[in-house]
Amino acid sequence: MPKIAVLPGDGIGQEIIPEALKVLDAVLKNSGEQFQFQEYLIGGAAIDARGKALPEDTLAACKEADAVLLGAIGGPKWDTLPAQERPELGGLLALRKELELYANIRPIKMMPSLISSSALKEEIVRNVDMVVIRELTGGLYFGEKGRKEHPKAAYDVLVYTEEEIRRIVEFAFVLAGQRRKKLCSVDKANVLESSRFWREIVLDLAPQYPEVEVSQMYVDNAAMQLVRYPEQFDVIVTENMFGDILTDLASMLGGSIGMLASASMSGKKGLYEPAHGSAPDIAGQNKANPLATILSAAMMLKWTFGLNKEGQLIEDAVTKVLDQGYRTADLGGDPGRILGTRQMGDAVVDALR
Ligand code: NAI
Ligand code: MG
Repeated sequence: MPKIAVLPGDGIGQEIIPEALKVLDAVLKNSGEQFQFQEYLIGGAAIDARGKALPEDTLAACKEADAVLLGAIGGPKWDTLPAQERPELGGLLALRKELELYANIRPIKMMPSLISSSALKEEIVRNVDMVVIRELTGGLYFGEKGRKEHPKAAYDVLVYTEEEIRRIVEFAFVLAGQRRKKLCSVDKANVLESSRFWREIVLDLAPQYPEVEVSQMYVDNAAMQLVRYPEQFDVIVTENMFGDILTDLASMLGGSIGMLASASMSGKKGLYEPAHGSAPDIAGQNKANPLATILSAAMMLKWTFGLNKEGQLIEDAVTKVLDQGYRTADLGGDPGRILGTRQMGDAVVDALR
């Protein structure tokens, strides 16, 4: 039986995960699929109970599981701890590293009923439907770094191995082949040697995916194109830092942070989590939007388990609830139709029927 390690974490993580489990339970019951869900501690909750942000049994369970479903971690209570012990570094980043998750994926799709919540004009965002794939293990963030005297200086090295580039670019080609078959590789090959290498590998792999139309774009232009004409993109693949910046930019195309699902993958294995944090300001008040977590659970069904129909049913149910005018507080809208966290979860379960 497929195993899912469930890590609610801190703050609103404790409120949104039960809603995603409720929705998964409903959809899996209907289709007769059986999964084993088991909860483990991570983050501040784990520090309080066990003295460390990523206890051994949590790590072992995540390594053994087929997929991990995570809420959020962190909060003011643990901010005064040394950086390495905090929920963020000691918990989530350590877990991502241990699982060797190299591909971060954020699908950005405009839900028609949320067009008015976007920061951009309706005609620009109406048809946005793209996936940004960010390389997670290499580049500037992990290259050699240091300081020098005479003259005083600091440096970070941007280095990529052939293997790191190949596996992420292959991942992107496969995904593009399953979608609208357009892949845009984003780099800075006009000035960076690592980007020239990246380009060579993209061109080397392209003949294996003849059905995919490939383009290569400089990152500064890509930033401009994302706000000028975002519907031109289907799948974007890029290195770690460019991806960090472009995914935040692209995330604003789709509306609220409370809607954004994400996955960090290593092959089929994935850690699925909403893109937002633990929202201490609204934690414990039944106000958090559970839809990003519910949509992350839908991604899990599709990406790790190939249950495309079931994943789609969840996405359609979310669309239906929003089309009916229901909102959580972060999405604004008609005050008479604002639902709490639990009520939004119930509404999605109802829409599945
Ligand atoms: P945040 O994403 O938790 O909150 C930013 C703002 O968005 C807040 O006003 C919050 O109320 C709102 N918000 C976030 N998610 C929401 C949801 N589902 N529904 C409605 N409103 C929502 O980011 P912030 O405040 O910078 O960080 C708070 C804590 O979360 C920190 O300890 C931070 O380190 C941690 N964090 C954890 C992440 C993770 O677990 N992956 C990611 C980002 C931050
Ligand atoms: Mg970022």
